Amino acid sequence: MLPDSPTLEQYLQAADDIALRGVTVLSAAPDPDALEAARVQFLGDRRGEILALQKALGTLPPEQRREAGRAFNDAKTRLTRALDERRTTLSRGAAKSLQLDLTMPGRHRWIGGKHPVTLVIDEIVGIFRELGFTVALGPETESEWYNFGALNFPADHPAMDLHDTLYIGDGALLRTHTSPVQVRTLQRYAPPIRILAPGTVFRRDPFDASHAPAFAQIEGLSVDEGISFVDLKATLTHFAQRFFGATRTRFRPSFFPFTEPSAEMDVECRLCAGRGCSACKGTGWMEILGSGMVHPAVLEAAGLDSERYTGWAFGMGPARIAMQRYDLPDIRILYDSDVRFLEQVAE
Ligand code: DAH
Repeated sequence: MLPDSPTLEQYLQAADDIALRGVTVLSAAPDPDALEAARVQFLGDRRGEILALQKALGTLPPEQRREAGRAFNDAKTRLTRALDERRTTLSRGAAKSLQLDLTMPGRHRWIGGKHPVTLVIDEIVGIFRELGFTVALGPETESEWYNFGALNFPADHPAMDLHDTLYIGDGALLRTHTSPVQVRTLQRYAPPIRILAPGTVFRRDPFDASHAPAFAQIEGLSVDEGISFVDLKATLTHFAQRFFGATRTRFRPSFFPFTEPSAEMDVECRLCAGRGCSACKGTGWMEILGSGMVHPAVLEAAGLDSERYTGWAFGMGPARIAMQRYDLPDIRILYDSDVRFLEQVAE
């Protein structure tokens, strides 16, 4: 131990002694707790032996302090190094006792991916976003008015029949399409409007190879002054080229209560390049979407002046598109959550 007023000789001796004893104890600490106790004993900030040594430095005559200070630093370095080395050795031992073999290759971690229908929706939304469209959402439970009335369905339209629509009472139903989002958007925002509304819709359909009672749709709507059928055709053709890489598209006259005129868009079958195959049922064309100029009655129902504003809209089923894209024979594969299928297409 160090006397109260040590000579230089005694100081140097004490420094070496502390370092020797400390290194011995630290290096022999059997576990992290013992190592910590040894650290406190020798290197502790409050009562560590190294602290006593540091304090004693001040009692030496100034001309001896340089040499004594060197001895102090040397002792401290030896102790700190012994502490670090022991710490490393102990933690390596802990890893070994867990039977960790750090040379083994990493274990494959299973990471989920996006569902094929989500991939299709994201890609479609991405293309329209570039054209200035925004995503709009609406409720899955709707009133009869938003789902049918405001969309110009006559009161006795067969789609309103119990066989197609799931009613949940009090004039409420599960929306049968995403078109009601058109009306909700037109009520809330002033034109110009350009929205895409993806979402789930519900129908009283059997769950078979080509039908599901709950499925995704994407609605599109563009309303402003001076919008014409040219805008509809140009935008949807651009979309088909971007999404399908389609060389050819065609518009066929159709009917929907909420559009006039109405048209369905087909793209040339990608599998047979229009020659006709089983995927396109020999026609050479794939049906992609329904579309049309927004019926004046719909604009009026939403509170817009149909003399001033016009617009066009479309609706499509991303599940159908996913079936074409991934060549699926049965829509139920998209609902099975079978990882063997999903991990083939997930991105
Ligand atoms: N709502 C239609 C359906 O569910 C799809 C549709 C067709 C939407 C034409 C539209 C449209 O916006 O213009 O079958």
